Parts: sequence; C-alpha cells; structure tokens
Amino acid sequence: MKFFVDTADVAAIKELNDLGMVDGVTTNPSLILKSGRDILEVTKEICDIVSGPVSAEVVALTADEMIAEGRKLAEIAPNITVKVPLTWDGLKTCKVLSDEGKMVNVTLCFSANQALLAAKAGATFISPFVGRLDDINMDGMDLISDIRQVYDNYGFDTQILAASIRTVNHVTQCALIGADVITAPPAVIKALANHPLTDAGLAQFMKDWAKTGQKIL
Ligand code: G3P
Repeated sequence: MKFFVDTADVAAIKELNDLGMVDGVTTNPSLILKSGRDILEVTKEICDIVSGPVSAEVVALTADEMIAEGRKLAEIAPNITVKVPLTWDGLKTCKVLSDEGKMVNVTLCFSANQALLAAKAGATFISPFVGRLDDINMDGMDLISDIRQVYDNYGFDTQILAASIRTVNHVTQCALIGADVITAPPAVIKALANHPLTDAGLAQFMKDWAKTGQKIL
C-alpha cells in the first residue's frame, strides 16, 4: 500500500520523505489555506521534494474552467495529479485531462456509484473520504470495501486512494481491505510507529542496561 501525505506543509513532507515514507502528496484548498502559501509556489516546492504523484486541486465549478485550471496546474511539474471534484463537470474534466495523458484524482467521493463513474472517466485515482462518512454515523470503511469489489469485478485500474484518514485504525483497515493508497496527515503516519508495549519494553531494557554499568560508545 502506498502512503501519500495529506498536507501542504513542506517541512513535514520533507521529514517523512527523507525516511522513505512518502509515495506521493495530496493537497486541497483547505490545506493550501492552512499552509498560508501561494498554491503555485508551494506545489512547485513539493514537486521538487517528492517524485511521486502530487495532487493539486482545481477550484472552478464548470468543466471548461476546470480544464483550463487543470492544464495550468499540470504545467508545474510532470508529477502533478490534477484533482477534480466528483461532479458531472469534474467527470468531464477528468475525461479530457486523462485523454491528454495527465494523471487525475477524483475527490469528494462518497459512494460506489460515484467511484464507478470516475473509473469510466479514466481517473488515475479515486478519493473516497472515510472520516467524513464516519462523522455522519456511516462506516467509511464499507465504502472502501465496496469500491474494491466493484473495481476488481470489472478490472478497472483506477487506484483507490483512501482519504480523510484520521486514525491509525483507518490505516490498518485500508491495508486489510486492499486500498491501493492511503493519504493521511503527517501526525497519523507518525502515530503508526507507536505501541505501548514498545515503550514499556524499551523502558525495561534501559533500566537493565544501566545496571550493567557498560557503554557501547
Ligand atoms: O484527503 C482529504 C482530506 O484532506 C480530508 O480530510 O479530515 O478534512 O475530512 P478531513
């Protein structure tokens, strides 16, 4: 399973990338706002750090304008993935840009039917939002399972990019179901390393080591 990092925070991306944990990056208008940076500048900076796909989202609502924005974003770097919303105009944009050979990530997906449409429009990635379904008392993981089954039934090669990942359990469940990619905030990716038994075991080793009176260096 690939790890994308869901942020426009360049320092956080660099730290995880240096560890080999970043297969790609996703951004959206809210994350650009949070970064306080210019979208074109910060996206270019991210593309200079990360060699995998970097999603940059259009903000227009009509297909013609989305296509124009998508083409401009795609000029930033060869690894740009144009991110479009799962609306009818977004699907039109997906088809046009995919036919031009650009990577497209169709975002704000909340149903298997929407994912089916995105695959038929040639999407490289579909982004189902797990956490936002959990927020309204639905099970976001059911959507990941449904899309996995639909795509496998028909051999679609659109990659399932599980988004709105909020917890380490979301990551485990996505890996068990077979999501192709998860995109998560840096804090969630770092929290994957945590385990109380690791902490307890290490504390015991340190205590016993001190009693030996030895040094390695
Ligand atoms: O990748 C989509 C993500 O940024 C949305 O996450 O936590 O705002 O639902 P969240």
